[in-house]
Amino acid sequence: MKKVRKAVIPVAGLGTRFLPATKAIPKEMLTIVDRPTIQYIVEEVVASGIEEVILITSAGKSAIENHFDYNYELDTILRQKNKHELREELARTSGLIDVVSVRQKEPLGLGHAIWMARKVIGDEPFLVLLGDDLVRSRIPCCRQMIDLYEKVNESIVAIQRVPMDQTHQYGIVEGEKTDFERTVKVKRMVEKPAPGTSNSDMAIIGRYLLMPEIFEALGKTTPGHGGEIQLTDALQSLADQRGMYAYEFKGKRYDAGDKLGYLKAIIDIALDHPTLGEPLRDHLKSVCDGKNCLQ
Ligand code: UTP
Repeated sequence: MKKVRKAVIPVAGLGTRFLPATKAIPKEMLTIVDRPTIQYIVEEVVASGIEEVILITSAGKSAIENHFDYNYELDTILRQKNKHELREELARTSGLIDVVSVRQKEPLGLGHAIWMARKVIGDEPFLVLLGDDLVRSRIPCCRQMIDLYEKVNESIVAIQRVPMDQTHQYGIVEGEKTDFERTVKVKRMVEKPAPGTSNSDMAIIGRYLLMPEIFEALGKTTPGHGGEIQLTDALQSLADQRGMYAYEFKGKRYDAGDKLGYLKAIIDIALDHPTLGEPLRDHLKSVCDGKNCLQ
């Protein structure tokens, strides 16, 4: 069985839901408490034992690459000012992991973004994490997926249960229970099913562990909805050809590419922060008591 060593993080989307905030700043660089969203995602990858990150980027996203790079000028100034703790924190970020970037020249969809990584990935299984999907858990979500992969040796999509009236917002998995904990064998995948067309509540989230055969399937996929190359069609063909599992991860997921999801992530992470948690809790209580109205 081949080891999972690399993770692809597509960050080439336009982030239109966050305009105008994302006109000049990538949405993956928006701050959650004290670091950008993308850093939480890269930290999950590192904590899962991955050796290399492949960022799929586009024009205007160089801030993400710079964030994980060494900044000589800043380091020199901080050293002159004896700000050693900050220097250490910055060195920790730039030394997190090896990062390689590949340009997606046009935003032709998530499937196309992943396909751009084919030469860097080669013939090995790999992870995909969406650059705006945050998961908080005791055991990193990717680690949970690698642990399952080591038992099943097949592709895995991470899923969460969603209310039936929200299934039309997700890629939905239908399948059968297996002997593995929280794991379903995938039969069918439907992208954003119209109400009443699927009775499954298992929604795919932004974590995938994929066999390299996905690239062949993506290469054959023709553009679908909105002229984009969808990932779901290629996943279905991989499931038919080799088999695929859906894993209900342990943890909480936030769609940080959506305004409400982003706010929820900020609040939950800040409430767990060693110095911010308590004063924020007090503040939220006073807001709930109606003591925060504008005068
Ligand atoms: P989204 O659809 O959530 O991102 O794609 P978006 O297109 O940037 O956002 P909105 O809908 O316009 O607000 C999920 C992930 O896939 C990446 C995005 O950067 C995001 O991390 N993506 C999407 C690409 O890398 N390339 C694409 O062509 C499309």
